[in-house]
Amino acid sequence: MSTTFQLDTATSRANPTPQPMRRLTVPKIRQRKTDGVTEEPLVMLTAYTARQAQLLDEHCDLLLVGDSLAQVIYGLPSTIPVTLDMMANHAAAVVRGSYHAVVIVDMPFGSYEASPQQAFESAAGLLKASGAAGVKLEGGAAMAETVAFLTQRGIPVMGHVGLTPQAVNVLGGYAARGRDDAEAGKIVSDAKALDEAGAFAVVVEGVVEPIAIEVTQALSCPTIGIGASAKCDGQVLVCDDMLGMFDRVPRFVKRYEELAAIISKAAASYAADVRSRAFPGEDQTYQPK
Ligand code: KIV
Repeated sequence: MSTTFQLDTATSRANPTPQPMRRLTVPKIRQRKTDGVTEEPLVMLTAYTARQAQLLDEHCDLLLVGDSLAQVIYGLPSTIPVTLDMMANHAAAVVRGSYHAVVIVDMPFGSYEASPQQAFESAAGLLKASGAAGVKLEGGAAMAETVAFLTQRGIPVMGHVGLTPQAVNVLGGYAARGRDDAEAGKIVSDAKALDEAGAFAVVVEGVVEPIAIEVTQALSCPTIGIGASAKCDGQVLVCDDMLGMFDRVPRFVKRYEELAAIISKAAASYAADVRSRAFPGEDQTYQPK
């Protein structure tokens, strides 16, 4: 499957790739942390559509097709209902819309936990259907055998510890983790188990900062923080959160734009123009020659 985006027709809204480009690779991402040091932090954002990927691609090292699409795209209450087909379709769109960043796709709840074999079938299907370079899965030591199984069979795996949203029913909510010694110790040992199993990077989500720093110092592979610490080896945010698409976001989100207000204003102007018959105007209508 070609990962170069080539669509270039008069009617397409898609941006053609200016020239063939070499995509970053998982080994290149892994090598950004050498002897415990990451000179330049890794930049990751979520992406769910081709156009979003086109806009983010040149700025990011990694694009994550996160199962957060449950809430962001589908208006679902949690990530639990997400299916492999949903992930495969959005990941394929993101691969088609990008040519620089490494595309990683989330394994949805229920598609990998039962056994390493189940995980391999699900992950292989995702990579075949989408052209993504690797998968992300949630969980710590309990997933180490699965991470080793996948990586030894050609599937790069990004781990995810701390606040793991697919475990919301066990955790009882989305509060920050690692506030007591027992939980903090488990997050550190979970992250180490994933590192030793061969994960090429580990997302550290929603943990108290000292634990994020301890995990980052303990792991040979890069950590990617979200609600964690600027001392992680990289950062990720849900793109729509940082664009200001939602009124309610977690406190760790920094809003870089207020797109919801911009979209609402544009829709209001359009509605007013339609109602006053100011749209379509001369420029937007066809006349006989
Ligand atoms: O699903 C997602 O978007 C994620 C990130 C928040 C790390 O897992």
